[in-house]
Parts: sequence; C-alpha cells; structure tokens
Amino acid sequence: MVQGKFGGEAELKPTISVIGLGYVGLCTAVCFASRGFMVYGVDVDRERVHNLREGHPPLYEPNLENYLNRTLRTRMFLPSDDLNSAVDKSDVTFVSVGTPSLDDGSIDLSSIKQSSSAIGTSLRNKSTRLLVVVRSTVVPSTCDKVVKTEIEAASGRKCGKGWGLCMNPEFLKEGSAIHDTLYPDRVIIGESDKKSGAALMSLYRKFFRRRVIVKRMSLVNAELVKYANNAFLAMKVSFANMIANLCESLALADVKVVTEAIGLDERIGSAFLNAGLGYGGSCFPKDIKALAAFGRKQNVDLPLVHATAAINKEQPLRSVDLAEKLMGSLSGKRVSVLGLAFKPDTDDMRGAVSIPIIKDLLQRRANVVVYDPKAIPQARSIFEGSVTYAESAIECIRGSDVCILVTEWESFRDLKAQEFAKLMKHAAIVDGRRLFDPSQFSRVKYAGVGLGPNQKARIV
Ligand code: UDX
Ligand code: UDX
Repeated sequence: MVQGKFGGEAELKPTISVIGLGYVGLCTAVCFASRGFMVYGVDVDRERVHNLREGHPPLYEPNLENYLNRTLRTRMFLPSDDLNSAVDKSDVTFVSVGTPSLDDGSIDLSSIKQSSSAIGTSLRNKSTRLLVVVRSTVVPSTCDKVVKTEIEAASGRKCGKGWGLCMNPEFLKEGSAIHDTLYPDRVIIGESDKKSGAALMSLYRKFFRRRVIVKRMSLVNAELVKYANNAFLAMKVSFANMIANLCESLALADVKVVTEAIGLDERIGSAFLNAGLGYGGSCFPKDIKALAAFGRKQNVDLPLVHATAAINKEQPLRSVDLAEKLMGSLSGKRVSVLGLAFKPDTDDMRGAVSIPIIKDLLQRRANVVVYDPKAIPQARSIFEGSVTYAESAIECIRGSDVCILVTEWESFRDLKAQEFAKLMKHAAIVDGRRLFDPSQFSRVKYAGVGLGPNQKARIV
C-alpha cells in the first residue's frame, strides 16, 4: 500500500468522460467541469440527456442546478448519449452507472458489464492512452473479473497496454454531494498497476489544488473499503437504535444522553450515533444486502452485517407501535406523517423508512395524511390515491389523531407544542427522530424513540 498527499500543481488538464449521469456521475462531472476540465457526460437515457442539456438535473441536490448551468454555459460540460465519441476524445473515463440489488439482495452488475464492453469497443481504435476509473460501488473482484475482462475482450488490448484501470469509490452523502466531491476526507485509489494509480493521483492533484489525503492500494482492497465503510456506518446507526430500544424499557433512560456521552470517547466518535427510525437511502440498504450476499457466496459468515440489517428492518415499525401505545388501535384514526424523504434536504425516497411505516399504517386501516417539503411527487408515484397529500406541515397535522415525525427536516423544528395541541384532534406525537424537546410537550401526549416511559423532561 502506498500513501501520499496532494499538493498544488498547474499542468495541462486531461479530458474526462463520465459514463452514467445519475447522482454520483453528475456530481463528479459538474465538479470537474467547474474546475476547468473538459467533461463529456454520457447516459443511455436520452430524456435525461435532453433535460440535462436544458439545465434540469434529474434530482434535487443543493447547488447541483447552479453547477450544471454554469458548466453548460462555459461549455466545459457536454452531456450526450454517444459513449463511443466521448471515450475517444478523453484521457480518463469515470464509470458511474447504477449497481442496484437483484431479488436475492446480490448486486446487479449488468450495467457495469455493458458499459465496460462499450468502453472496450471504443478503445479498439483509440490512438491515445485511456485510464478507466470505476466510481460505482461494486463487490470485491468486479474490477478484475468483470470490468477488466470485458474491456480486454472488446478492445483486444491487455490491461496496461494503452489503457489502465483504477477503482475510486465515492463517499458522497446526498444533500452535500457537491461539497463532498470538492472536499472529501480522503481519496481511495485502487490500481491495476502503478502507472494507472499515478495517473489518477495526478488528475486529482490538478482537481483539488490543495493537500488531500490519498490511499493507494489494490483494486480489490478499494472495492472492499467502500463496503466496509458503509457497513461500519450503518452498524453504528443500528447500534444506537438497539440501545434506544433498551432505553424505552427503562424509566428515566434517554438514548440521546447515552449516545452523546459515548460519542465523546474519541475511540467511538459522535457521528452516525443518532437513534431514530433506521437508515434508508440508495446506498446503505443496498450495500448491506450486497455485502451479506457476497459473504454467502464466499462461504464467510458476516454476523454483524446480518444484525445491522435485522435491527434496521424492525426499527421503522416501532414508530407505529409507539403510536398505538399513545392512541390505542389506529383503525379509522387519522395519522399524520411528517417527512417522507430518506433524510432531510433531499427529495429522494429510495429505501426511505417512511415507505414501510405508511404501508403498515394502511394495513392497520389508518387514514394517512403525509407531508414533506420536497418528496411529495415521489410519494405520489409510490402511494397514489391511498394516502392524502398535505401542502404544509400545519395542514398535515390539522385534525389528526396522532402524528409520526419520520424525517427531521429543519423546518419541522419550528412547529410548537401549542400548534400540535390546538390543531390536532387528539394531540399525540411520536417523535421518530427526537427533533423536539419533550419537556415542551406538557399538553401533548409525546413518545420519543429511545426515551424511557413516562418522561417529559430530559434528564441529564
Ligand atoms: C451510484 C453508483 O453507480 C452506485 O454503484 C452507488 O452505489 C451509488 O451511486 P447513482 O448515481 O445513484 O449510483 O445511480 P443512478 O441514479 O441509478 O444513475 C445511474 C445512471 O447511469 C442513470 O442515469 C442511467 O441511465 C445510467 N446508465 C445506466 C448508463 O448510462 N448506462 C448504462 O449502461 C446503465
Ligand atoms: C451514505 C454514505 O454516508 C455515503 O458515504 C455513501 O457514499 C452513500 O451512502 P447517504 O445515503 O446520502 O450517504 O446518507 P447518510 O447521510 O449517510 O444517511 C444514511 C441514512 O442513515 C439516512 O436514512 C439517515 O437518516 C440515517 N442515519 C444517519 C441515522 O439514522 N442516524 C445517524 O446518526 C446517521
């Protein structure tokens, strides 16, 4: 393993192509283009390409629309569906096509296979060297056994002969993806050979123009880093939720107090210890499933990964149990759900815990009314006419029997206990993300995740 740091360096900038203009590919593309790199973006979805050319990103992400429009105006970012021409013109090709889950939880590598083969075909007649950089999350050995094999077969060129391969996993969080692309904690470079790793390091040196920690390693180690990283973070969340469940059985216990205290131990750290209704999103649930399936394939037991997933499966529905504890049977009751996106500051509902919660409420014959500042269009395509869509948080809670706070949008913090008391039919709230201060809710029935029974005041 080689370790290094980037310093400032001004040289000619390589031309870049990015295959797959989803969340990860698009952020990578516009960030490079904003720093003066010529970027050819490629996607098989023609409608997506058309919308991108008009300056409309396919998803909501803070700053993304600005970056897109700025780089379209300067003509440093050119989206198209022509992979062949983009690869032909570029020195470096990032692969960021999706890697979704199959029915058995294992990873679907068909887009990776297809794009690798297409890159290989373009490489066949290319006169200049190409560095292929896998950005998508792929299970160990994929770069070697799928990407390299497909490119070699389609190009007729061995890896190292006119082209090289790197694995460069991303750690972008939705809601801060542009910031995370420009200011990462560290850069991981898996490399097929030293020359390829050095080429990617040189590219990033020109991109960052400042010192950034870089770790260079084999392709398989870089593939593993991504999974181990996400599994560890998800495990921290599930750990906090496990302690929350214990707290709920103990008078005067409060998971917030406990996790804040253990987070002060530098060996543990405070990040990803917020107990709540479980993790969602397009990455954690999919990556945990893929890692578990990969362990099965390798005949290696991964008990912590299984426990992480099992806790996360139960956690969302605990909010419905808490609502029943407050209100009795939910059948025929009006239940307001605040927050639908898998976390605040995004409109993304992929893997959102609001989905199993609402399904469970509907199964218990509750009348469900929902509100989210950004994700209502996504919710409409999932729940169609089975729930009522409110236009504001106030409208959502008005007349309801019980309210479940599912996503901790900052704007919900402004809701006052008096408003719940005044507007709801029966003032009862399940605080699934511990957004509110329970001591303020003296006139409202309040249950918080990880809060012991009969508590209104926070005992510190
Ligand atoms: C990314 C990574 O690729 C995934 O491995 C990681 O775990 C999470 O982040 P994301 O950007 O969210 O995925 O994927 P998605 O929003 O599904 O976008 C993928 C894009 O690739 C789509 O626009 C799709 O049209 C495009 N695509 C897919 C291609 O251009 N070519 C293909 O062959 C397949
Ligand atoms: C995650 C990883 O953080 C990122 O490195 C990777 O590249 C993609 O997956 P993202 O899915 O955008 O990013 O969201 P993140 O902020 O990590 O949150 C994931 C889920 O965990 C959310 O549903 C969030 O609500 C939940 N979470 C997070 C908790 O429940 N408690 C916490 O303390 C932290």
